[in-house]
Amino acid sequence: PIKLIIDTDPGVDDSMAILAAFNSPEVEVIGLTSMYGNVPTRMATRNAITLCHLAGRQDVPVVEGAHKSLRGAAKERIADFVHGTDGFGNTAPQLAAGDPAPGSAAEFIVRMASQHPGEVVVLALAALTNVALALHLDPCLAEKLARVVVLGGAFYCNGNVNPAAEANVFGDPEAANVVFSRLPNCWLVGLDVTHKCCMSAGAIEGMAGRGRHGTFLRDITQFYLGYHRQAYKMEAVYVHDAAAFAAVVDPGLFEWQQGGVLVVTEGPAKGRTIRDEGKKEWVGSNDWQGLPPVQVALGVDSQRLVAWVLER
Ligand code: BDR
Ligand code: CA
Repeated sequence: PIKLIIDTDPGVDDSMAILAAFNSPEVEVIGLTSMYGNVPTRMATRNAITLCHLAGRQDVPVVEGAHKSLRGAAKERIADFVHGTDGFGNTAPQLAAGDPAPGSAAEFIVRMASQHPGEVVVLALAALTNVALALHLDPCLAEKLARVVVLGGAFYCNGNVNPAAEANVFGDPEAANVVFSRLPNCWLVGLDVTHKCCMSAGAIEGMAGRGRHGTFLRDITQFYLGYHRQAYKMEAVYVHDAAAFAAVVDPGLFEWQQGGVLVVTEGPAKGRTIRDEGKKEWVGSNDWQGLPPVQVALGVDSQRLVAWVLER
């Protein structure tokens, strides 16, 4: 199985992705690393520990990640209005006791990649600060990781923070640039595809009583569904993070286009992701030249994807 580290800010859709991963024989989850975003970092750590307990996987280490972006800014925007103040849709489940493993998230990623060169996949479901810090710590890390699959970006569609930016890239645009410019094997699953992957209210209800975690997931998803009703006028939720997990196991669910990716770091379009399509009309040099090709998901078999997520 694929050795998987999940970097996460749980979070309702993160919870779906994590529990799906624990239910998937194709991957061995070797650790969770926490990040701010939907909730502050410390709460992300607690929630990740709770999800491991729920899955009966207390053996999986949870390592706490960064509290600030690379620029040193404390998180500007916690998405409690999407995921509830507890990150679990205000269901306030009993949080599991237990401590995070020692060390930082970045150190953990570096250590795992050094112990298992070529075998570790990082699934990044939040701002990319931890992954960027890991790349700073070990200049050879990029070659040791098998793949990094990121839930992030908005290329040919609006963002979800503002017209320009998707939330995870917006959370630390400088970190995203580090990750996209250094990794030879980076895969982006962004809003271009996840806004096509809707799980209906009926399907959410149908999870109750199914498997070990169906009722928990149904319950925590109610608040998230309420947000989608109000913000998008739909009786369904977007399956963001679990779609990125699906790309770890079955990239064939998506259509991929490659090209260097740059992130805007200043101004109104801060957090916008822009892909080099290699057009012949671009004579002369530009900032995309020399960037490693990033695989960007631009098409998806959404019906099959949502069914796949539900099954897990
Ligand atoms: C991403 O932002 C977070 O709120 C979600 O969990 C997902 O990772 C969507 O833009
Ligand atoms: Ca997330």
